[in-house]
Amino acid sequence: MHSLRNRRILVIGGSSGIGLAIASATAGAGASVTIASRNQEKLTEAATKLSGTVHTAVLDTGDNGLLERFFEKQMTWDHVVVSAAQTRVGSVRSLSLTDANVAMESKFWGAYRVARVARINDGGSLTLLSGFLSERPSATAVLQGSINAALEALARGLALELAPVRVNAVSPGMIETPIWDDLPPEQRRGMFETTAAQLPVRKIGQPEDVADAVLFLMTTGNWVHCWSRRRRGHRVSLRDTHDDRAPNELRAYGENSVSGSGSADVAHIFYAGTRGAARRPMTFL
Ligand SMILES: NC(=O)c1ccc[n+]([C@@H]2O[C@H](COP(=O)([O-])OP(=O)(O)OC[C@H]3O[C@@H](n4cnc5c(N)ncnc54)[C@H](OP(=O)(O)O)[C@@H]3O)[C@@H](O)[C@H]2O)c1
Repeated sequence: MHSLRNRRILVIGGSSGIGLAIASATAGAGASVTIASRNQEKLTEAATKLSGTVHTAVLDTGDNGLLERFFEKQMTWDHVVVSAAQTRVGSVRSLSLTDANVAMESKFWGAYRVARVARINDGGSLTLLSGFLSERPSATAVLQGSINAALEALARGLALELAPVRVNAVSPGMIETPIWDDLPPEQRRGMFETTAAQLPVRKIGQPEDVADAVLFLMTTGNWVHCWSRRRRGHRVSLRDTHDDRAPNELRAYGENSVSGSGSADVAHIFYAGTRGAARRPMTFL
């Protein structure tokens, strides 16, 4: 894994969960990291959990003017990550149209607005967070799957438009973060236990697992450039060859890819998966 020394990294959504873990991993790799979200108090508290060079910035991905001013004033970035989102979950029939619009507005349009104005150095990267529901729909979270699929399509297109800036979408399985804090503790614990029991590794994914994937995408040079099943180009398949039943597969496709496999760079085994992962390899990236 390469160093991120002297690199400037912005993590929007960096005050909690996956974003906070990405901030921690990148600061640990020597980067100067700015965590951004809507609440200064939360940011200040999150910053105390990080070591290294860490700054905070109040940013709302829903406020285009604020985003434009922020990126205009700041020096260019080496890597930008958008993990910011707040979406209400519910079936299509039960969720109000207002809540559905707010969810799309937050997660999809929030990332879109950042992509529109973020100034990123050539060879740097923009990473979006989608989620497993795009590929494994749930009857009670159809909208979340649709938003994630839209984000993945956005990443594929942006990879062409913003090149040589690299654009990737990382699609986590269920990860233990504060995103689930609205559930009563008993219900939350039950959900994690049930999901873990259905995964071959019998564990729920942790934010650090996703941070590892994002760090890999930032530091791996030019050859990982937008994952997609549908894109033409070479395929790089990196998987755990120790166990054929492993749900953990890291796949990358893209124009700039070189073909090859089993890179020594990839020491990580991603175990965050979803139901049915045992029957079908889990695509983590
Ligand atoms: N955890 C999972 O199981 C899971 C699974 C699949 C996909 N994902 C996706 O991964 C991403 C991160 O999830 P997480 O679990 O880390 O969530 P989280 O712990 O709730 O963190 C979300 C972060 O985004 C910030 N945020 C929310 N709305 C924002 C806005 N409009 N502008 C700026 N910042 C905003 C929040 O801070 P403030 O509220 O203070 O602004 C917080 O820092 C999300 O897109 C989520 O859908 C998560």
